[in-house]
Amino acid sequence: MSLPPLFGPAFDADPYPAYDWLRRNAPVTKVPLPGCEAWLITRYADAVTALTHPALAKDPALGSPEWFRAQLGLPLDHRSTLARHMLNADSPDHPRLRRLVSAAFTPRRVARLRARAEDLTEGLLAVMAAKDEADLIADLAYPLPIAIICDLLGVPEPERAAFHHLASVIDSAAASEIDQLAAATDGLERFLGDLVAHKRTHPGDDLLTELVRRPDISPEELTSTAFLLLIAGHETTVALIGNGLLALLRNPGQFAALKKDPSTLPDVIDEMLRYDGPVRNATWRFPTEPVVIGGQEMLPGEPVLVSLLAANRDPEAFDDPDAFRPGRVDEPHLAFGRGPHYCVGAALAKIEGEVAIGGVIRRFPDLELATDDLVWWPSNIMRGLFSLPVRLHK
Ligand code: HEM
Repeated sequence: MSLPPLFGPAFDADPYPAYDWLRRNAPVTKVPLPGCEAWLITRYADAVTALTHPALAKDPALGSPEWFRAQLGLPLDHRSTLARHMLNADSPDHPRLRRLVSAAFTPRRVARLRARAEDLTEGLLAVMAAKDEADLIADLAYPLPIAIICDLLGVPEPERAAFHHLASVIDSAAASEIDQLAAATDGLERFLGDLVAHKRTHPGDDLLTELVRRPDISPEELTSTAFLLLIAGHETTVALIGNGLLALLRNPGQFAALKKDPSTLPDVIDEMLRYDGPVRNATWRFPTEPVVIGGQEMLPGEPVLVSLLAANRDPEAFDDPDAFRPGRVDEPHLAFGRGPHYCVGAALAKIEGEVAIGGVIRRFPDLELATDDLVWWPSNIMRGLFSLPVRLHK
């Protein structure tokens, strides 16, 4: 029984048949990935067990030497000033860091970000309206979330272009472009370190200012947290808008239904997250002791990935899982994870998705895909498109 290929353009174009095969034949199995082997978990019930398992830890220092070598040079390489954040932490650091950030996501701040997202989207759509064709990634999905992260962190206006540039290299460089990635990561490390220092002397009404005032977070944790919010909050939201609009354009019946009743938008967004979500695999986990899931024993240090895409198409959890069908009454999807590391920014992400996707279909009700020739990011963790060319008008 040989495994189907789990990376490459053909897999990326439609990974779901391979995930279906894995769920049926090898639901918890070791798979070869570039540079190392990892356990891959594909069934919904096993995914929930793994994401909530107390002996599957997040600290990268627990990873095997083989895994560690395979990560060197990647953006989340173990630079201490960028890696000391909650998604790499276990108790007691994880709940401390998570509480600090969650407390700074006040309803008032989130409401303000919605208003900002609406203004920004209006501006971006107005620019697009002058054209016949547009790229929904470059023209909308990419610029909106990065501007929102800049607001959240309080990046001063004159610094934003430099910040965008560094973030875009990290977002789009292939893993093989190690030198470029390393230079951009170093640049971002300096940028965020300077930003944290700036907030101490020039406080603003932003999340970073709130964090620098707290005595219970170290300077390295502050820079790392800013880095995490940038990475976790940016590419994911780009992919929600891109993958979500692609699903809608490929399901014209659902597109028509949404235009007829726009109040169903939150359900449509939720189904977009389940059907083809932004996070392919949850981030790395490492057993701290032998852990048995799905009858397989995973040993300490062996890297473990939970396939959120596969779990979200499990027929044991979702009726007719390959259908794009908003308004489901199945299990909750796992696009934002589950358990202690459940996405801190889920509410904000949904707001951005609603504003961007709602805005684009209101403004361009005749929107159509301009090509089926789409290129996906070559990432182990993320699932998103480099571009999404569309015709805007009939
Ligand atoms: C549609 C967009 C988004 C998706 C699909 C998404 C998905 C996820 C997932 C799956 C995790 C858990 C990863 C794991 O357990 O390995 C996570 C964690 C996280 N997300 Fe999101 N995310 C999105 C947007 C955002 C935004 C906008 C922010 C903040 C601005 C954010 C901040 C975070 C943080 C800080 C964590 C770490 C939580 C922890 O370790 O306790 N995310 N996200």
